[in-house]
Amino acid sequence: MQVDRTEKIFIIGSIIMVAIFALAIAISGIAFGIQVPAPYQQVDPNTIATPGNSPFGAPVDERVREIAPGKYEAYILAQTWVFLPNEVRIPAGSELTFYVTSKDVQHGFVVERTNINVMILPGQVSKVTATFDEPGEYYFICHEYCGVGHQTMYGRLIVE
Ligand code: CUA
Repeated sequence: MQVDRTEKIFIIGSIIMVAIFALAIAISGIAFGIQVPAPYQQVDPNTIATPGNSPFGAPVDERVREIAPGKYEAYILAQTWVFLPNEVRIPAGSELTFYVTSKDVQHGFVVERTNINVMILPGQVSKVTATFDEPGEYYFICHEYCGVGHQTMYGRLIVE
């Protein structure tokens, strides 16, 4: 089979690039531990917000807590069309882990100026962590269309 020289260069170049990309993915996954957000836990969306059943059923002002010096966790329940709690306060320099789930439809959760960006599915808890060194306000926003009130669905993280 006759393959033109230019075509041969492009074929070999493409194979080399795919090999480099595969290697980059393997290195970032194995050596640096970079993972795509995976479901943390399976839950029943109908009972997840029942008081006493899970941290998502705790009073809204008790869903953000310090678990160790400088380490916080926040349990955020998404529902049409609000995040509860919709305001989270932590001191600057803290590491914050969000646990997010939905009790009704599919929502999204993106925190501005971070790499936090997950889909929120009823029945699954997603766990994402970031460190907030810069004081300021960070909006977290639903970025999956979830109905007529979708555009009003956001909350604020205040780093002070
Ligand atoms: Cu919730 Cu869009």
